[in-house]
Amino acid sequence: MEIVIVGSGGREYAIGLALQKECRIDGIYFYPGNGATEKLGKNINFKTDKDFVEFAVRQKIGLVVIGPEAPLVEGLADILRENDILVFGPSAKAARLEGSKVYMKEFARKYDIPTATFLQTQDYTEACRFIESLNLPIVLKADGLCAGKGVIIAQSYAEAKATAKEMLSGKAFGDSGRKIVIEEYLEGFELSVFAMCDGKDFILLPVAQDHKRLLDGDKGPNTGGMGAYAPSSLATPALLEEIKETIIDPTLTGMEREGNPFSGVLFCGIMVVKDRPYLLEFNVRFGDPECEVLMPLFKRGLLDCFMACAKGDLQKIDYELEENVCVGVVVASKEYPYKNSKKEKITFLDTATPLENASIIFAGVERSGKYLLASGGRVLVCVGKGRNVKEAAKNAYGIVKTIKFDGMQFRKDIAHQVLEK
Ligand code: AMP
Ligand code: GLY
Repeated sequence: MEIVIVGSGGREYAIGLALQKECRIDGIYFYPGNGATEKLGKNINFKTDKDFVEFAVRQKIGLVVIGPEAPLVEGLADILRENDILVFGPSAKAARLEGSKVYMKEFARKYDIPTATFLQTQDYTEACRFIESLNLPIVLKADGLCAGKGVIIAQSYAEAKATAKEMLSGKAFGDSGRKIVIEEYLEGFELSVFAMCDGKDFILLPVAQDHKRLLDGDKGPNTGGMGAYAPSSLATPALLEEIKETIIDPTLTGMEREGNPFSGVLFCGIMVVKDRPYLLEFNVRFGDPECEVLMPLFKRGLLDCFMACAKGDLQKIDYELEENVCVGVVVASKEYPYKNSKKEKITFLDTATPLENASIIFAGVERSGKYLLASGGRVLVCVGKGRNVKEAAKNAYGIVKTIKFDGMQFRKDIAHQVLEK
């Protein structure tokens, strides 16, 4: 069977690397892929998604795994399904759980899912009235997709009102911000919880923790994520049970009732406040860099899980996870997350003893002859595996040491919340 992985980041590289081990897979295409995915398979590109779907039909592609949110929200899974191609990923209607913050918050309200108190509005006066009723800081969210930049945490009432004005006028995020969600700030720790779903049933993956801020000690600006580890010991069995019962179960039942059953991976961004889980956001895809630390934890059955979600028969699934822990350290380019960086040649130093239990997951890279160039953003993720988080972090940082390019930046404290305990 041949498969296609849609996307070009570290998440898609990690999925490709893990699926490469499946003997039933004869070939992997990446649409469009990056400068390193062509080592795992073949990069393909098309002018339109319609051309891509025609290719998938002609080539009798056995499974399409859609990595990023944008094609899901735009309905790529729907067109593929209409053409009888198996897809891992939700329909456009189900992808509104990520594509519209207003939809997600109204859905949570309707199905009694614990989430921050909020108001959704298009009206500035109404926004100001609600802002004044909240304690500081105040969270403002643009309704639509904003490439991870649509959430502002305002530290004063004046800032909150100015942000609301900017968003509603379309100045801040274009049409994505003409509707906004204003919500109370939740103080606690965050977890990334992933459920692979087939519309009815789900399997829970090891719980991951991301590190959103650029700098050590959770300082500096927000990024797409500077590192992750899984499983996290912060997710106790009791907490997980509560997340299943109060968030995942009602979501799957609710989406079915709405006529939009959810298949694919449901990524619940959770804030744990005084031992209780609250839903911050849904994403309808794997997290990046969370995916990079989850894929290596599959001992067997990953392809079966993808296929069962796509076919709607997860009930019979047989898979096995490793007992190990994975830590992933993101190595980003010089100007990340502020602006694009100059392309830089990456040098890979040999380690005297090759590190077992470690791998490099490539993201923002371009090929130039026999070299790889860091082409900006998050360039790669060094993933280490170990029997515990300390050992996994040591293996991950061992790999970081073998990589050099001008301006490279990475955090030195990934997994600190559990390592300091
Ligand atoms: P979202 O895209 O909704 O997850 O927001 C991005 C990030 O903003 C989250 O990962 C949190 O760190 C933060 N955030 C979002 N909503 C809240 C909230 N209600 N309280 C505190 N932090 C929040
Ligand atoms: N790492 C967070 C995300 O993928 O949205």
